[in-house]
Parts: sequence; C-alpha cells; structure tokens
Amino acid sequence: MKKIAVLISGSGSNLEAIVKSCNSNLINGEVVSVISNNPDAYGLIRAKNFKVNTKIINHNEFASRNEFEKVLGEYLDQLNVDLIVLAGFMRILGKKIINKFSSKMINLHPSLLPLYPGLNTHEKALLNNDKEHGISIHFVSTELDAGPIIAQGIINIDNAEKIETLIDRIHKIEHKLLPKIISEICKDNIYIEQNIVKFKNINLKGKNIYIKNYEV
Ligand code: GAR
Repeated sequence: MKKIAVLISGSGSNLEAIVKSCNSNLINGEVVSVISNNPDAYGLIRAKNFKVNTKIINHNEFASRNEFEKVLGEYLDQLNVDLIVLAGFMRILGKKIINKFSSKMINLHPSLLPLYPGLNTHEKALLNNDKEHGISIHFVSTELDAGPIIAQGIINIDNAEKIETLIDRIHKIEHKLLPKIISEICKDNIYIEQNIVKFKNINLKGKNIYIKNYEV
C-alpha cells in the first residue's frame, strides 16, 4: 500500500475525496499525513473527522520561504511517502524542494492548462467566453502550474453561468478525477520518466494525456 501526503491550505474537499477513496479501497494507498500551511484550514477538521494525522507548518511563522520549505521538506522526508498531492495548496514552492520531490509530487489545478495558470481561473474562463473549462492534474515542476500534464477533466460552460455553480461543478469533477489518477499512480500505472509522463494499462484514446469529458 502506498503512502500519501496531502498538502492543503483551505476547505479540503479534495482531501476528503481522496481519503474516502482510500477507505473504500478505490485507492490502494493511505493518507499518512495532511499538511496545511494555514492553521485555520477547514481541511484539518475534515482530516481529524477521518482520523487522519495532521500537521500544521504555518509559513507565517518562518522568517523566509527557504526556512518554511526546509521544515516542510524535512517533514516530507521523515514521512517517507510515495506520493505528495497538492490539493488546494496555495503556496508557491521553490526550486530546491520541488527538485527534491518532483517525481512524486502532483498538483491539482482548476483550469485546462496551459490556459490560466495562477489564480482566478474560473473568472478568466467566463470572461473569455470559453466554451469549455476544467481541471488539470500534473507533476510539479519549478515553473508555476506548468509541469507535465497527466490528466484533464472537461466540462461545457457558457458565460451566463454563475461563478458559484461553476466552482461547484469544477469541484464535482475534481472529486472524481483526482482519486482516479491517484489510484492509477498507486498501481504504478502512471509515473514520470525523464520529464515525460508514462502510462500503463490505461486507454488514452489516441491522446497523450488522460482526458475525460464530464456532464455535471
Ligand atoms: C480546488 O478547486 C483546486 O483545484 C484549487 O483549489 C481548490 C481547493 O479546494 N487549487 C488551486 O487553485 C491551486 N492553484 P478544496 O480545498 O476544497 O480541495
């Protein structure tokens, strides 16, 4: 069984989806620690409700980003995990920690990358009158939201849609696709080699990443 660490900063609904999938054996893995840089993150309460170990590493308590990341890196080392999932983790990480863990660190991002790295992705998709919006799951690289993409989930949108319902729909597909991808990583069916994502036993339907369209 693989050991997973999940990094969060806020609500933790994706964390909850991951933990539930582990508990129902959809993922052959265990969330051994939930790490939050925000001591008030609701995800910490969700973790405790599921009796998952939590750790707060509050970036505000460190004099520099380097010191914060040194402690975070040491804690991740100590956990000796197979996979690190950034699930709503809202800190940008520096080169040193990323280079150390990049082959086993994935990020969930709420846009169809390379569209809209960074913040306010839903607003941007609506403002640009996009017909499709969605989520990306990628291995983390030193460039923000630009690491090798593993999977994307796509929904249809129109600019009359309210942002609240759009966020809700995006969350729904995140809660389906992220556990699915983690499950495949835990089966060693997805991994990264020389900066290229490799897939085994997965039908990519002619694409070079896993793409799923959702109606939610
Ligand atoms: C998710 O929608 C995730 O895609 C986004 O934060 C939300 C966290 O929700 N991540 C980012 O914006 C990262 N740049 P959650 O805390 O309920 O899982």
